[in-house]
Amino acid sequence: MAARLPHRGRRRIVAACSAGWLALPAFPLAFAGRVALAQDDKPFSPFITTPSNTVMRMLSIASVGKDDHVIDLGSGDGRIPITAALKFGASGAGVDLDTRLVDVSNRNAAEAGVAARVRFERGDVFAADVRKATVVTLYMLPPIIQGLRPVLLRQLRPGSRIVSHDFPFDGWQADAIETFFAPEKNNGRGGDSTVFLYVVPAEVHGRWALTLSGSSPEDLPRGALELRLLQVNQVLDAEMTVGRQVLEARDARLAGDRLRFAAVLPVRAGGPPVMPWQFEGRVDGETIAGIARNPRGAEVRWQARRTARR
Ligand SMILES: C[S@@+](CC[C@H](N)C(=O)[O-])C[C@H]1O[C@@H](n2cnc3c(N)ncnc32)[C@H](O)[C@@H]1O
Repeated sequence: MAARLPHRGRRRIVAACSAGWLALPAFPLAFAGRVALAQDDKPFSPFITTPSNTVMRMLSIASVGKDDHVIDLGSGDGRIPITAALKFGASGAGVDLDTRLVDVSNRNAAEAGVAARVRFERGDVFAADVRKATVVTLYMLPPIIQGLRPVLLRQLRPGSRIVSHDFPFDGWQADAIETFFAPEKNNGRGGDSTVFLYVVPAEVHGRWALTLSGSSPEDLPRGALELRLLQVNQVLDAEMTVGRQVLEARDARLAGDRLRFAAVLPVRAGGPPVMPWQFEGRVDGETIAGIARNPRGAEVRWQARRTARR
């Protein structure tokens, strides 16, 4: 069911906010209805604040530090970017449709002494420029979260983190999930918060021509190696071939631009006929470079160049 938040109601919310975010009473509107509201025909999430201990957990699970730029989409009273600056040394920004909340947030940033590092602007989250973000935070209803996913994946660099409070992305396995008690939730009655962490994966789907070079030539396989990666977000299926021979490849995983997988390769000469190798590498667009190690202590460099995207 779609509903429109009465304008008068929204005025009251903003009046409550203008006292400053530390003094904010927990907002009485239950998020439990979980309906997407429409305002000016834009998808909308009502204003409800993330409890302060949940804000800290969101920033901690994303390992926010002084080099991070944290953008909160639908930033409400600004508490997430302001806390990121105040407690974690990060810079930050926020975007909200509500001009009055944006003004409140900028005032709160000034009061907290972080206005030089944190700015809030009025805007629609779907039009937001998040290319500078290393961390994006969300407390939005599912239709908005789902709609934002392609927007975020188009703009964010591999390794950027997205943290969502209470609402996961459909069809994207989170890299970490934490559920804990938040005393401020439900208007001070308390309740559980869940935070979902997603690390933006590099895009690696396709076929890669792989070469090995290094100090242990007798362990290296004969023939041209091809790596085939089937990607669903950060989860990968890997297949390795040398010539016409299909080899065992397993445990392929992406963490941002870091790829790892294991493969059992035939050796060039001497020793056992096959050798397990642990591959680790960094993805940079159409190339991957890294180190492969085997249990005999051999360490070789490897490089891969994408030859097809399917
Ligand atoms: C649930 S509140 C979250 C506030 C803050 N992020 C927090 O966690 O405390 C959602 C906020 O998103 C804003 N909002 C909803 N839909 C939006 C949209 N399409 N574009 C920009 N802001 C939006 C609302 O005005 C509201 O402040």
